Amino acid sequence: MPRDDRSRPLRVLVTGAGGPAAVSVIKSLCRDPSVCLLAADMDPWAAGLYLLPPDARTLIPAGLDPGFADAVLARCTALGVDVLIPTVDAEMRPLARARAGYAAAGIELMLAPERALDLTLDKLALAQCCAGHVRVPRTECFDEALDPASWEYPVVLKPRTGSGSRDISVVTSAAELAALDRSAEFIVQEYLPGEEYSIDVLADTRSHVIAAVPRVRARVDSGVSVAGRTIHDPELEHFGATVASVTGLTYIANVQARRDAAGRPALLEVNPRAPGALPLTMASGVDMPMLAMDALRGRPVPEHVDFREVAMVRFLDERFMDLSEVQKVAA
Ligand SMILES: Nc1ncnc2c1ncn2[C@@H]1O[C@H](COP(=O)(O)OP(=O)(O)O)[C@@H](O)[C@H]1O
Ligand SMILES: [Mg+2]
Repeated sequence: MPRDDRSRPLRVLVTGAGGPAAVSVIKSLCRDPSVCLLAADMDPWAAGLYLLPPDARTLIPAGLDPGFADAVLARCTALGVDVLIPTVDAEMRPLARARAGYAAAGIELMLAPERALDLTLDKLALAQCCAGHVRVPRTECFDEALDPASWEYPVVLKPRTGSGSRDISVVTSAAELAALDRSAEFIVQEYLPGEEYSIDVLADTRSHVIAAVPRVRARVDSGVSVAGRTIHDPELEHFGATVASVTGLTYIANVQARRDAAGRPALLEVNPRAPGALPLTMASGVDMPMLAMDALRGRPVPEHVDFREVAMVRFLDERFMDLSEVQKVAA
């Protein structure tokens, strides 16, 4: 645990600064005077970099780069970082594997344990782990063993480790599924026809769930909720909390569910990190990044935090600066 030294601000680096998840974490923590925020991305045009002063911006390699965890550790050491908050899926497992090296350098990761990442970043492992705890749609690996005749149609075909709705298709018949090339990187999943929810979950360092806030994604643009509302629904709140506990998640996570034909919520996927629409959950009364920082620092956190229902619309915003600022980050 980083020294909770109130005489010196904690230096917190947020990765994926070009994405809405990082921006929402920055919007929360920039209001905490005990935190000095820094932002990182692989792209000098990442908007979130420019929410912070020039000396708080840094470029890092892509999460898939084999040298990613070592390069980021060196950068964190050079910048005096105390806490690293990754918001990019591809960065998470490399960082979790390198956690001991970071700890040895005095850097704490706001990141779920490796086992929880293995379970949630793989949609097949997630379905197998959560079956029997919550309603899980029938989910199988799209390998040679799968029998198209044994399914009801339509079904959903999607990558085991996808994100942003990439490479997802709806297959309407056994003949259509049988004609496709098999790949163990894909899963076939029962189609869920009902309303879709995102449940933001906050857990402490021992996976005790402090808050579960369901949201309806009224409008989605490129995988990001651009309009929505929070909704009190004890069944959904319990659903989100159960999935977080069963998978052993810590800090902030996002559980996605959709109602089946009978109206029961069923599990779609889990993002083991802050979601892009977190400002709605914050506006509903649960400032998850702030509370997660308290948990990480060993400060007392409430047993449970409730929320109120709020609606949200979002729009693009601009920052203007001298060209040299972008050139300096790129250098
Ligand atoms: N089993 C399913 N039934 C109905 N729609 C689905 C199903 N799986 C995925 N989808 C649709 O595709 C979107 C993306 O799927 P998801 O599992 O969340 O993967 P990603 O990691 O790409 O976000 C979901 O938000 C949902 O609208
Ligand atoms: Mg999703």
